Amino acid sequence: MSLQESLKWRYAVKKFSDKKVSQDDLQSILTSINLSASSAGLQPYRVINVENPEVRQKLSEGGFNPQIAEASHLLVFAAIDQLSVSHVDDYMQLMADTRGVSVESLEKFKHILTANISGKTDEENFIWASKQAYIGLGTALAAAAELRIDTTPMEGFRPSQFDDILGLKDKGLRSVVLLALGYRDENNDPYAHAVKVRLPLESFAISM
Ligand SMILES: Cc1cc2nc3c(=O)[nH]c(=O)nc-3n(C[C@H](O)[C@H](O)[C@H](O)COP(=O)(O)O)c2cc1C
Repeated sequence: MSLQESLKWRYAVKKFSDKKVSQDDLQSILTSINLSASSAGLQPYRVINVENPEVRQKLSEGGFNPQIAEASHLLVFAAIDQLSVSHVDDYMQLMADTRGVSVESLEKFKHILTANISGKTDEENFIWASKQAYIGLGTALAAAAELRIDTTPMEGFRPSQFDDILGLKDKGLRSVVLLALGYRDENNDPYAHAVKVRLPLESFAISM
């Protein structure tokens, strides 16, 4: 299957069936997200797999996305709340260990990255980190579709409610966007057979 065929197959599911995504497929999707590009490679976000059904139920309360509770799995993309030099230090250490080089040899890179983060407010850094999380979300949508696993990306939730229930503040994280994973309920999802709406490529892709 080509990537384009997978992208044509996928749509944002409103009604999931009871079928569960396997652990292998879940790990595969998480691995693909982890392999996503991020600015400077810092990966300033985490992906949380919320397994507990009662917690999922609580998270869905008061919202308009029943997929939060009903899908097989719920992934919460959460960005680092207050990026700091210590995050850069950890990254330099990981890079040194992975590539078998000294931390000192990465000094120039570290300086650029640190200056960039220190020159911005926490909120600006959070917005930047959130953008990286969205790149991971895009990868997840494609990776799941390749496995013929259905998804719903969701911004329709209250981040403060999620942060409280999941205790994300203590982990230095804030929720940004959600991804429900599962299998479409073909008979009961009104969108299961809807034709995809996209701009004509001539209007969307602009040549200059
Ligand atoms: C960042 C983002 C947030 C979205 N939030 C929601 C949401 O809260 N609830 C929902 O049912 N669909 C949500 N969607 C799905 C979009 O409505 C859907 O992707 C769009 O209508 C295009 O249709 P398709 O993905 O089915 O091709 C979201 C999509 C994206 C990319």
